[in-house]
Amino acid sequence: MSSPSAPSSAWAAVDERRLWARHEKMARIGATPGGGVNRQALSPEDAAARQLMVRWAQDLDLTTATDPIGNLYVRLPGTEAGLAPVLTGSHLDSQPTGGRFDGTYGVLAGLEALQAIRQSGVQPRRPIDLVAWTNEEGSRFLPGCMGSGVFSGLMSIEELRPATDWNGTTVESALATLHAATPDVPTYAAPPPHAYLEAHIEQGPLLETADTTIGVVTGIQGARRYAVEVTGEEAHAGTTPLKNRRDALRTAITMVAELNREMEAGGEAVRFTVGRFDVEPGSPNTVPGRVQFSIDFRHPDLTAMKQLGGRIEPICQANAGSCSVYVQLIDDMPPTAFAPAVVDLVDRQTAALGYSKMRLPSGAGHDAMYLARVCPTGMIFVPCEKGISHNEAENAKPDDLAAGARVLTACLVELTDA
Ligand code: GLV
Ligand code: MN
Ligand code: MN
Repeated sequence: MSSPSAPSSAWAAVDERRLWARHEKMARIGATPGGGVNRQALSPEDAAARQLMVRWAQDLDLTTATDPIGNLYVRLPGTEAGLAPVLTGSHLDSQPTGGRFDGTYGVLAGLEALQAIRQSGVQPRRPIDLVAWTNEEGSRFLPGCMGSGVFSGLMSIEELRPATDWNGTTVESALATLHAATPDVPTYAAPPPHAYLEAHIEQGPLLETADTTIGVVTGIQGARRYAVEVTGEEAHAGTTPLKNRRDALRTAITMVAELNREMEAGGEAVRFTVGRFDVEPGSPNTVPGRVQFSIDFRHPDLTAMKQLGGRIEPICQANAGSCSVYVQLIDDMPPTAFAPAVVDLVDRQTAALGYSKMRLPSGAGHDAMYLARVCPTGMIFVPCEKGISHNEAENAKPDDLAAGARVLTACLVELTDA
């Protein structure tokens, strides 16, 4: 229970300007000329973002911890030692041309909540651990959500260590560099979480279009990620007749065209993206011998996801021609339904604070989909400008960010007393 003398309105201590100022400061780390950030997972910029978090935590007299996969934890202690903590957070890594709010907002809203709770005099029964999860984005190293995946026991760090980025750097070596950047941070130790609540910008247009401040998130659609490798044969562009070629690029383009055709026929709910395409040797006058491309496939319905997803490898094989193709399924996350009790809590606290709200599922993936496998989990969305995300132009309003942080704070206080 909160101490009798403490006001129960920790949310009232959320400071919009302080929260915005931290966003501005964080956005300087990895800032891009286009106004976004390039702070890819386990990069020097990612390490600098964590160092800043550690400094902010120290300024607030909060303790920090880390773990082998590099998650960074900031703890607000509870009054009853040893109780399972309530977790909140998101990620500080970004897309290569990412925005200033994707992930960062959930981490900074969490820090704002911890500060507001402390400032208000409310004494939580359970500890509240704010977490910056490692490599949520999955753009430099696949799969994404490595930090929350390992934390939840659904991924094995031993299997992730040899994974390489597009330049051949391994997760293992990048993690060693990351840990070296915060050498005095001890290892995290806590019982499994009591609950997890993540704040995030919506990354879509629904809230803004409906002029609504808070999204009460009901779940997350399913997602699969594949790496496809097409192998042909390098040949001279001037001498090799077209019919004699084993052109890996021409083959890969045919595969992608066929996949797009099938996915478009699959209905409005399908999301299908080839976002990375690497051609080797990448010379204008050599027939490409090898192409690697990525596939990101999502659907809210498990049956449809299995049916359409099951078409991906056969389509690649059927269009391989004289080349060979290797289709690797890297990540397969079924749709996630959040815990009704947490969804209801967010709904109720949003109403109590007087914000407009709507229930909606998440089209984007989040660390919450892994946490949902180990504890009652939910998410809070706030609007972002024109729904633009994974784009340097991503933007959000200070008052919406503060509203989400207030709802988060009120929910965390309730969860810590349960
Ligand atoms: C997360 O960034 C996602 O790809 O949904
Ligand atoms: Mn995100
Ligand atoms: Mn993202």
